[in-house]
Amino acid sequence: MSLKVRKAVFPAAGLGTRFLPATKAQPKEMLPLVDKPLIQYGVEEAVRSGIRQIVIVTGRGKTAIEDHFDVSFELEHLLESRNRHDLLAAVRQISDMIEVAYVRQREALGLGHAVLRAREIVGEEPFAVVLSDDVIAAEPPALRQLLDVWERFHAPVLALMEVPAESIPNYGIVAAEPVEYDGTRDRLYRILDLVEKPPRDQAPSNLAIIGRYVLTPEIFPAIEAAGPGALGEIQLTDGLRRLLDGSPLYGYRFRGTRYDAGDKLGFLIATVEFALRREDLGSAFRAYLKTLKL
Ligand code: UTP
Repeated sequence: MSLKVRKAVFPAAGLGTRFLPATKAQPKEMLPLVDKPLIQYGVEEAVRSGIRQIVIVTGRGKTAIEDHFDVSFELEHLLESRNRHDLLAAVRQISDMIEVAYVRQREALGLGHAVLRAREIVGEEPFAVVLSDDVIAAEPPALRQLLDVWERFHAPVLALMEVPAESIPNYGIVAAEPVEYDGTRDRLYRILDLVEKPPRDQAPSNLAIIGRYVLTPEIFPAIEAAGPGALGEIQLTDGLRRLLDGSPLYGYRFRGTRYDAGDKLGFLIATVEFALRREDLGSAFRAYLKTLKL
């Protein structure tokens, strides 16, 4: 197996029920934070982490994603004829930087099933998985932080974050023991067990799995062997659990701020914070917010 991670898989075939009706005809990964769809933040993170081969698992609304990363001759021609080179650069920039392949998940049978759909394109290489509704503001990018762990240990690694007790039932939670890494013992963990959405009193910790992974092709047979789990869905967590018998599985508590943009409140928080950080919008938006009698 080659040791270089060159591909990132973006599952984007979920039903996005929490955002209906906005997600009736387009995937939630196309919802914009300020002026960029969620999936583009994820793709830009992959590019900044050194990965340019992007594999998108699509379901309904496939065309919106394909069109987004494709060249739009009419639009580019129009912008050129109007001398809008700033906008032209904005629409061209990302498609110029990546190679995209698409695979179809016909039915939303779970995240594990979506990852399994990428098996052929991934082949016998390690690969990343990015869930673009987890938007992470971090420097270096969260995926880069995980790749650094991969490059040191050559074992699969998941992003972890501490969550408040009341949120535990919304996440995959790990039982883990700290490992010395970069002079600390509070970032890297060896994972001993994983549970999908446990009740609060049965959770082994408050360390939740966040949507960034570096995996090896061993995950594919493991997902297959795990079969459907909670709610009849084929869960990635159940596949990961099966890997625990073999080589080590690590979790890395990344440095950065994560926004749960797959949830309405999280999406609103991300929108406000990203808008405030923008050079072109931040000060006007801040001035407006200050006028609100809250
Ligand atoms: P989520 O559980 O957050 O997404 O899946 P969802 O099911 O679309 O959203 P809700 O809960 O109904 O609102 C995490 C990621 O996995 C993808 C989703 O697109 C999202 O990026 N996914 C999930 C798939 O690609 N296929 C699936 O069958 C399930």
